[in-house]
Amino acid sequence: MAFPLHRSRRLRQNANITRLVRETRLSVDDLIAPLFVCEGKGVRLEISAMPGVHRCSIDQLLVEVKEIHRLGIPGVILFGIPDKKDAVGSEAYNPDGIVQRAVREIKSAVPDLLVFTDVCIDEYTDHGHCGLVKDGRILNDPTLELLSRMAKTHADAGADGVAPSDMMDGRVGAIRKTLDETGHENTILLSYAAKFASAFYGPFREAADSTPKFGDRRTYQMDPGNRGESLKEVWQDIEEGADMVMVKPALAYLDIIRLVRDNVNVPVAAYHVSGEYAMVKAAARNGWVDGDAAMMESLLAIKRAGAHMILTYFAREAAVILSR
Ligand code: PBG
Repeated sequence: MAFPLHRSRRLRQNANITRLVRETRLSVDDLIAPLFVCEGKGVRLEISAMPGVHRCSIDQLLVEVKEIHRLGIPGVILFGIPDKKDAVGSEAYNPDGIVQRAVREIKSAVPDLLVFTDVCIDEYTDHGHCGLVKDGRILNDPTLELLSRMAKTHADAGADGVAPSDMMDGRVGAIRKTLDETGHENTILLSYAAKFASAFYGPFREAADSTPKFGDRRTYQMDPGNRGESLKEVWQDIEEGADMVMVKPALAYLDIIRLVRDNVNVPVAAYHVSGEYAMVKAAARNGWVDGDAAMMESLLAIKRAGAHMILTYFAREAAVILSR
């Protein structure tokens, strides 16, 4: 590849040759839009650290999902914000809870849109943890039953897929078993397999009002220093029945996305999380970066790292640009 015989700039001379030799392409097919649903009517509250992202009541959510569907985005993932929280997260597995009702309404208004649901009790517990709490400890095994019930009510409501994000050990197997025993053998299981204890979840916790009231999530979410362990987590989840595995966050964990992609034969999702979105928005508002360009470059990087699909708050904005 010695110069002057080889000149890499020959293939960068203009946009046409660049298009022909581009190795990675982002498409609207890659996107999943996360949505927050709350009680009430006519509610559409912007999350302060996430400009352009709202907590919506179901009627407003339907407006959003129709737009998402019109843009050709294949799916959404729902997060519920209940009015009532308690120690055991009862609203999480209430068959008439906020997410269960939202799923039913979305599937009847836009049957063709894939609906995933986040399965985790932290938005529904008054202590804000993803598991049951006893004497200041997060209990693993007793939480599995609640997660299974939650997943079942989502599937009953018509969810196409459930996505456990709690990081309790054994939850994928427990949920798969419950789904299979209740006639939901076709419900897709997307596991948050390599989910790290990250500072980048900050704006989400404001949106979902799910900041832990004591301690942190380091006894269940992964240590950011660990790479090999992410393979242990994804392999275990696949053995327990996960159809697709997720790495989360995305941009600070591109090496993990690549590692997982090269070592598993199921589709890999990446969650481009709230803090990663907020950083681009904040810098763009200050005129410090070109927001659209930074968005598209970030999403392309996540895809180049190996993600088959990206959960991103930029889904709509990116889809608009991709459809031009
Ligand atoms: C837990 C959950 C979290 C996110 C998705 N599911 C928060 C957490 O683990 O504290 C974060 C998503 C984001 O930051 O965009 N139910």
